Amino acid sequence: MKRKRKIKKKFIIFSIIGLIVIIGIVILAVFLLNKNSFSVKLVKDLDIEINTEVKVSSLIDNIDNGELVDDITIDTSKLGKKDVKIKIDVDGKEEDYSFKVNIVDTIAPELTFNEEVYTSVGNDIDLVDNVTVSDNSKEEIEVTVLGDYDVNTIGEYELSYVAKDSSGNETKKEFTLVVEDNVERTSKGYVIENRDGVTYIDGLLVVNKTYSLPSWYGDGLTSETQSAFNEMEADASALGLNIYISSGYRSYSTQDTIYNNYVAVDGQAEADTYSARAGYSEHQTGLAFDLNSIDDSFTYTDEGKWVNANCYKYGFIIRYPKGKDDITGYMHESWHLRYVGEELATKLYNDGDWITLEEYFGITSKYQ
Ligand code: DAL
Ligand code: ZN
Repeated sequence: MKRKRKIKKKFIIFSIIGLIVIIGIVILAVFLLNKNSFSVKLVKDLDIEINTEVKVSSLIDNIDNGELVDDITIDTSKLGKKDVKIKIDVDGKEEDYSFKVNIVDTIAPELTFNEEVYTSVGNDIDLVDNVTVSDNSKEEIEVTVLGDYDVNTIGEYELSYVAKDSSGNETKKEFTLVVEDNVERTSKGYVIENRDGVTYIDGLLVVNKTYSLPSWYGDGLTSETQSAFNEMEADASALGLNIYISSGYRSYSTQDTIYNNYVAVDGQAEADTYSARAGYSEHQTGLAFDLNSIDDSFTYTDEGKWVNANCYKYGFIIRYPKGKDDITGYMHESWHLRYVGEELATKLYNDGDWITLEEYFGITSKYQ
């Protein structure tokens, strides 16, 4: 009996110790597990527009007990569901975590085109040539023309361009096809008129290496040009700047002499980069003149800088801007001004980034 009780007592003691050990292990395990657990709360909207730059951190609302290891940029180049794998730092240990995002396309294609397209009656025209399409999906997108027209019948036809991407986003834009009698136009659609050998584009007299003047043309600066200069000169003078016309109107024969003198010195190819052949000089129009010293030093004088920044207010343009040699056909001439009127001059000034007449009208400047 005594022995049996002893055994029972031992059993109870061991059980209690065992229980304490088990409880201890459980507490420790819970503690350790808790220490290593983290939770990631994502933002609600996991739809991402295709081909946008998205950092993974922008999709995470909050991380408990951890920190994002690498703020990777998500590859958003393909539509559909995508696994994003990230690493979370939990007390110095890196844990894996992944979630799904949905790459979507909700933006319609963009169309760039001329709102009016011209063609001469009887000439077929590829209307899709007049439009360029771009889309955020970067897919190849077909543009179709909606509406009826007849290139054999003079008239205006209201048509539309339609472009749709693979996600169903559609853009539809209206344009007008003008089928007209034989009218010559520039590549930008401006009407070219030739009156007695003088070229007018959109009503403006234009002279360059492509469009010349007859030898009889011109008889001094036009009154508009002279009075616009006078106004500019007076304003410059009030600021202590001295501007004067060093070469104004030049007749066909004067230009012929000047040009040939240059050819004799520099050769024709070189002369053609800075001097116009007879009949091709703006000086013969009476709408152009050279200011002060006719060389590059004028660019850096106070007068040159002021003229560059202000001449448009008086209707003048820097006719041969810097870096446009291939477009105008001439090297930069900071001193050569051409009168075009305030409205066009302001457009061409373009906040200091001069646009040439050639670019504006869509014309060339090349000797035939
Ligand atoms: N220097 C300009 C291009 C002219 O000769 O008309
Ligand atoms: Zn000049």
